[in-house]
Amino acid sequence: MTALEPSVEPVTSLYVHVPFCAHKCAYCAFYSEASNGEVIARYVGALLCELELVAADFKPRTIFFGGGTPSLLNLRQWEQILQAMERLNLTGAAEWTVECNPATVSPDKARLLRAYGVNRISMGVQSLDEALLDRLGRIHSREMVFKSFDILRAAGFDNVNLDLMFAIPGQTMAVWRETLREALAMGSEHLSSYEVIYEEDTPLYAQLKAGEFDADEDLACDMYEELIAQAAQAGFQQYEIANFARHSSPIAGDIPSRACSHNVNYWRGGSFYGLGPSATGCVRGVRTKNWSNTRFYCEQLEQGRRAIESKEELASIARAGEIAAFGLRMNSGWPFEQFRQVTGWDLQREWSGEMDQLIRQGWGRSDQRRFQLTPAGLRFADSAAELFLR
Ligand SMILES: C[S@@+](CC[C@H](N)C(=O)[O-])C[C@H]1O[C@@H](n2cnc3c(N)ncnc32)[C@H](O)[C@@H]1O
Ligand code: SF4
Repeated sequence: MTALEPSVEPVTSLYVHVPFCAHKCAYCAFYSEASNGEVIARYVGALLCELELVAADFKPRTIFFGGGTPSLLNLRQWEQILQAMERLNLTGAAEWTVECNPATVSPDKARLLRAYGVNRISMGVQSLDEALLDRLGRIHSREMVFKSFDILRAAGFDNVNLDLMFAIPGQTMAVWRETLREALAMGSEHLSSYEVIYEEDTPLYAQLKAGEFDADEDLACDMYEELIAQAAQAGFQQYEIANFARHSSPIAGDIPSRACSHNVNYWRGGSFYGLGPSATGCVRGVRTKNWSNTRFYCEQLEQGRRAIESKEELASIARAGEIAAFGLRMNSGWPFEQFRQVTGWDLQREWSGEMDQLIRQGWGRSDQRRFQLTPAGLRFADSAAELFLR
């Protein structure tokens, strides 16, 4: 079966990777390193070159500075980036997020970001238990979380996400309940919460392999249930496996108004530029990945070229399969018509066997309009989504 012509969407999103952290956390496999001022200054210069190379091609509706720890950049470095973005007509996004570590938020930085149009902050809280923060190798304390949140509010941020982790070794259900209760009581607009993933080449993975602790899958499932129950009770709507947001009207649509539009664009198969070391992008069906080496990244940009390590144009059906898999992470699943518009393929026709299998297993359901995963299916969304890959 061949595809209908998918609609060619303009590129509307920009991701920028900031590959620096004050200290590497025990569980983290994102590309980032503890670096000196010289390397950071060189990175900022290279990033300005990369922004310049892509700026004429688009006007982002969503921007996300992730990492690493973007809030580690100092005031002067942020000013350089923000001024360049203004000059290149890249500011003015409807949603502009910057990831922050609670230990690196200052009133001056928060005000500067807000003044240039950053309107959403995602804060890596992980836990509100001092012993677990220590266990994870975090540099912040629980007090810093509350203090930073107040600083962000005072600077005018009315859209804040808190990141939490559960199933952390040593975390009991009682500790998780209390962290959730305290985090939800802070009154943020958004909550992201991931189960700990044991990434190879991290100290936490090595400790697991060395038998220093066991992963308790039943406890992790119970903690996920607790997350869903407490978030709902606090007025959050779950819209993706690990993401919860408030909505401004009592009649919520499929996706709550405070959902992260930038991530929704990923899950819905939208195009985006990815800049900075290790960043991936996907523009007009071509996926790119930048080099995961900051020095090499800088060298390339200093010679006037993008630092792209690999470029891949997926076959249309393979790309559609990936998009199907991504979108199923969302509670609203895939409306058939929207899937057809984005990919040019008919979900009901091409993946009917896979959808039937999931329905039989109790992991999926469908009606006239769409296919979506059930709560049981969402718990194992990665396995469910894999069926759709071609
Ligand atoms: C790039 S970090 C967030 C910003 C900032 N670097 C920080 O940690 O404060 C993105 C989020 O991914 C989650 N994360 C990272 N590694 C993880 C892992 N191995 N398992 C589960 N969640 C992880 C954490 O919740 C983290 O806040
Ligand atoms: S979790 Fe965040 S602060 Fe910790 S190492 Fe990863 S990117 Fe850096």
